[in-house]
Amino acid sequence: MDVAALRWSWNRVAAAGPRAARHFYATLFVIAPETRTMFPTNMQYQEDKLLAALGHIITNIDNSDALAAFAHHLGADHRRFYGLDVEERPVPLAERHYIWVGQALLATLADFVGSEWTPSLRADWAAAYEFVAKLMLTGAADSEQLTPPFWQAEVIGVERRRSDVCVLTVRPNYLCNYLPGQSLPTQVPTLRTWRYLSPANAPRPDGTLEFHVRAAGRFSTHLVRRIAVGEVLRLGHPTGTALSAYNRAPHRPLLLIAGGTGVAPLRAILEELQQGSGRPTTLVVGGKSPDDLYDHQALLKLAASTPAMNATASSSAPWLRYVPTVEIGWDWDGEVGRAADTALRIGPSKDADVLVCGSPTMTRATVAALSANGIDSDRLLVERFDHSVYPLLASADTDSQKTT
Ligand code: HEM
Repeated sequence: MDVAALRWSWNRVAAAGPRAARHFYATLFVIAPETRTMFPTNMQYQEDKLLAALGHIITNIDNSDALAAFAHHLGADHRRFYGLDVEERPVPLAERHYIWVGQALLATLADFVGSEWTPSLRADWAAAYEFVAKLMLTGAADSEQLTPPFWQAEVIGVERRRSDVCVLTVRPNYLCNYLPGQSLPTQVPTLRTWRYLSPANAPRPDGTLEFHVRAAGRFSTHLVRRIAVGEVLRLGHPTGTALSAYNRAPHRPLLLIAGGTGVAPLRAILEELQQGSGRPTTLVVGGKSPDDLYDHQALLKLAASTPAMNATASSSAPWLRYVPTVEIGWDWDGEVGRAADTALRIGPSKDADVLVCGSPTMTRATVAALSANGIDSDRLLVERFDHSVYPLLASADTDSQKTT
């Protein structure tokens, strides 16, 4: 297989941007109209995900171990997608869907590569696609005995903390194993689209999950304003590897920097640390004003707690230093400044692992500030819940990726 040829030919598609995605989906829906009901009605913001991922995966076909793990997981998670037949009965994703997607992919490539689309290039793309599709199908088959296609999670608590922020507690129908720091694709069935939410708690014996949601688009606004106790959400397979790797070097101190509802996955990590023997940790939570610190009470409580496996420790030094910081606070006697500036001012220890979570703007600015101040990039753990490992073909709206 000529991997270099796969790459340059993919670049032709990527360079065409959203036009290529539109072409791909138009072709798919002509080849197999029944696939249309699998996708959201309004594809304006999502339409590049599948195609961009496909291109990324196939052009990295020589990175086999990482790819195999990724495709296996993606296949298991794809069990949450299904279409509807004419009588509106669910039609699960099956091998034939992969054949249609492969045909649409090859047709799109042929059109965008033009006169350089040769039989041997076509054969290479077909073989690479078949390889990935088989991994995904195996992932789906292997997970069938282990997990449901998606979890049904009943909303058992809705706490509106601000006009634009709510805390939801849900109880999945089966235990959902996730690592603190990961996210779960979440769907309000009537809206059809999926968005990522991070549990704000470490796994609990009763399996319940707490989500923090800020209204930023249609999905999150629905959750903040309309969702009620008793409604049922759907959850897909937990995903994300960056923040959940926080324990890769347990001897190092941790510096956690959060903005907005980005505090959620960091609180899940802190809860897990608290259930163990703790670890010297500093948590900086930034907001424009004190009103933005919607989880302040829970974090104060956590900071005052003693790690479960250290209950008899004589040391009076708290394991968690919680530092809320606001940009504007007339009646505020705490830290003032952006989260990154406060974190730098209070002096992150040079050997700390630093976890950052917030909006894309906050995350970018924080990483830039830390890097400019000499924090090594391999000390930074930043989750980008936006599949940005793939070359995106279109920009997304504020709510199209992760809502925390
Ligand atoms: C090798 C093949 C495939 C790859 C690499 C792939 C990859 C992806 C990725 C990365 C996403 C985004 C997931 C997310 O953000 O949560 C996605 C979404 C999706 N995929 Fe696939 N996919 C493949 C095959 C298929 C097939 C065969 C179908 C069925 C026709 C399908 C249907 C969907 C649907 C319905 C979505 C959700 C779209 C949305 O809500 O925006 N995929 N796919």
